[in-house]
This record gives sequence, C-alpha cells and structure tokens, in this order.
Amino acid sequence: MNPTARFAPSVAEVDFPPAFTWGVATSSYQIEGAVAEDGRTPSIWDTFCRVPGAVANGDHGDVACDHYHRMPQDVALIKSLGVDAYRFSVAWPRVQPGGRGPANPAGLAFYDRLVDELLAADVDPWVTLYHWDLPQELEDAGGWPARDTAYRFADYAMLVFDKLQDRVDTFSTLNEPWCSAWLGYQVGVHAPGRRDHDAAINAVHHLLLGHGLATQAMRAAETRPHTYGITLNMGTADPASDSAADRDAARRADGMGTRIYLDPLRYGRYPADIVADLAERGSAFPVQEGDLDIISTPFEWLGVNFYFGQNFAGTDEQGRTHDDNGEPVVRSVLPDTPRTAMDWPITPERFTQLLVRLHRDYPGLPLVITENGAAFADEVAADGTVRDDDRTEYLATHLAAVADARAQGADVRGYFAWSLLDNFEWAYGYAKRFGIVHVDYDTQTRTPKQSALWLRDTIARIRA
Ligand code: FCB
Repeated sequence: MNPTARFAPSVAEVDFPPAFTWGVATSSYQIEGAVAEDGRTPSIWDTFCRVPGAVANGDHGDVACDHYHRMPQDVALIKSLGVDAYRFSVAWPRVQPGGRGPANPAGLAFYDRLVDELLAADVDPWVTLYHWDLPQELEDAGGWPARDTAYRFADYAMLVFDKLQDRVDTFSTLNEPWCSAWLGYQVGVHAPGRRDHDAAINAVHHLLLGHGLATQAMRAAETRPHTYGITLNMGTADPASDSAADRDAARRADGMGTRIYLDPLRYGRYPADIVADLAERGSAFPVQEGDLDIISTPFEWLGVNFYFGQNFAGTDEQGRTHDDNGEPVVRSVLPDTPRTAMDWPITPERFTQLLVRLHRDYPGLPLVITENGAAFADEVAADGTVRDDDRTEYLATHLAAVADARAQGADVRGYFAWSLLDNFEWAYGYAKRFGIVHVDYDTQTRTPKQSALWLRDTIARIRA
C-alpha cells in the first residue's frame, strides 16, 4: 500500500505558497470512451480516427480509459494523490449532440455526477469547455473557419454553465486554440485534417471570438462570482543564430504561436507585423466591427501548457530562405538536449524564460500551469510498479523552473500535471504515455507510477 517514491529529487519547496493550486489534468476524448452512449454524437476526432493513416496504429477513442464508466474510481484515485484540483474537459457532442439545440440531459448528467463526486472528495473541479472534440455536424457546416461556430460555442457553453455554475468556480473556454487552428486546418495532422492556410487564419479568429462570446455570456448569467480563463500552448521561439533571417523566423514563429492569441485577448488588436505578413500573401483575419472588443473582454487567469522551447531558423537545410511556394522558411531547430519519447527536447530553463516573458509582456494576468509533463517508454516491473525516474525528474526540474519564474516576479498561481492517466495521445494514439498513473488498456487497471507518488509526497511536504 502507499509506498513512497524511491527517487526523490527535491524542489524549491519553500517557494510555493500555501494558496498555490496543485492539480492533475485530462481531457474528454482522451479518456472517456463511451462515444455512442447516452446520446453522444460523433466529434471531429471520432471521424478523423477513421481516416486511414491519420492516427498511429489505427487507434481511436471508442473505449480509451473507459473513464465514463469508471469515473468514481478515478476520482478516488485523484483524491489519493492529495491534489487540490482536477482539470477536465466537457465533450460538446455529449452535452449538445450535433452542436445545436437543447441540452442532452443524459450527457450533462455525467458531468453533474463528476462535479459532485469531486466536491465530495474535496477536489476542486476546473472545467474546460472545449478540448478539441467539435461536433462533426458543425465541421460539416464549415467548422471553426466559419463564423457561426463561434456563436454555436457560446450557446453550448451556456448549457454547461447553467448546469454547473452553482458548484464550479473555475471555467476555461478553450484548450490550445493554436492546435485547433494550425494542426487541424493548416497542417492537417489533427482533426479535421484540412490543409488550407486561409481556413486556419479564419479558425484562429473564430476560436478567439467564441472565447469572448462565451466568457461574456457566462459572466452575464452568473448567480455568484466565478473565474474565467483560456489555455494556450506556448514555448519559446528563440532565433537559431543571430542572423537576420533567423531572427525574422523567430519573430514569425512567436507571432503565429503566441502573439496572435495574446495580443487580441489582452490588448484588443492583432500584432501589426503578423497582419503585414498575412497581407503579403493575400490573407487577413476576418475581423468584423466589434469583434476585438468581444475578444478582449476581461478574464481572470491564463492557462499555460508548456512542454518544450524551440529555436527557429530562417533558412532550410539547403540554405534557401523561401520554400517552393515562395513562402519564407520558418524552420524549427530543436535545442540540443535530451529528448522525451515524443522526441521533444527537455528544456526546463525555457519554461522559466516563457513565464517571465509572459509576466513582462502581458502584465497583470495571473498564470496557471494547466499542463506540463512528458511521455516516456515506461516499463512495468515484475512487481507491478512503474519506476519512471525520467518523468519524475522532468516534473521536478519543471517545478523548480516555475519556482524560479515566481522568484523573478511571474505571478504563477497553480500547476496541473499532464496527465492523470496514460491516454489517447491524439495522432500518436495509445503509443505515447503521458500519465503519472499507468493504464493497462487490456484490463483498465490503474497503477500510480513513481512520479505520481513523488508528486503526492512533494505536495504533502510543501504543505506540511
Ligand atoms: C497538449 C494537449 C493535451 C496532450 C498534451 C501532450 O497539446 O492539450 O491534450 O495531448 O499536449
């Protein structure tokens, strides 16, 4: 029972105040399964998973971690880790099948029970309204590139809010709109798998508009105060060298990755340099009058998902500055550090750099780490334990990086580990394990890895 972690790197413990929120995170499609139950209709991910070659090994979320049926045990597991909070997302096609019309009571009831179960376990529910599972019918009607989807999102958000606002304090609108817009509509490696630059630019604007509309609608309907946020994935975009081409590539990468989200959200305008870049290729954000006021509606906290930092070069391997389509080269050059199983570089110092930069460029906005973690090729030992020294060390060094950023003034209020469970890692399927709890997909057995025990013990030590 309850062994303590054997590998125990220490963290700058004293630097985390008592009010700091400790949590674990998941998302609906990655863990729930039960995709056709209680009235749920397909999302773009159900459809995308059926496209040959789209997802490794032909994996899909039909069963996933079977969380829909194992929710009470999973909440007990969360409680056993001694965390304060659990960040989960609501599946839009469960709550509003097809993406329009009234709420589906059976779908809402699941989240109602989840919230009650969490509160009974003294775990604070943090609700994310959209973690990528757009109802397929809305994609068929144009998806995020279509303006109407922003209004549909606000409508759906209110169905969730009306049901849960009496017990949930913290709502987040979107998870990682960069992934929805860029990976979904430009690169095509995420659902819905489109490859259309202008569609991606339109999606960026309509995701932000949906965030603003939903935030305003929720705030207008509250019967008690809540805090609202949005979660962005961010890294660092440093120039690979001091050359003008590399510096310009880093500017473009930072502009498209971070500033086109945070500038409108905080300052009510898109960054002028990116607007000029887009104009050069004949495209523009589809801004209508009043949109930027809606998008810049105040919110209380920014969710930061951090995995790694990057460098950017403005030339390709052949030294060319423009690709075959005449577009400027923006080439990621990963820092030369050890890598995770995703082949992502391990760069804790870039985490500090990012948080301090957010504090400097977007002051007055409390930050919460809503995701941080790593995939490694875990091995289950003969005695059933998972000794994930690599993940434990990743968490420890990244927590220390957060403490460093706080010491430099960054207003970081919480940290959620990604992820509670091994789960469906999008295009990588089940092959990549991010959990601090191991899942045996044949038996659905959950086994806390050493990293989970370490996190539990670390929180307890900090709180002692
Ligand atoms: C983030 C996603 C999350 C998970 C991690 C590894 O981009 O928000 O669902 O896939 O990456």
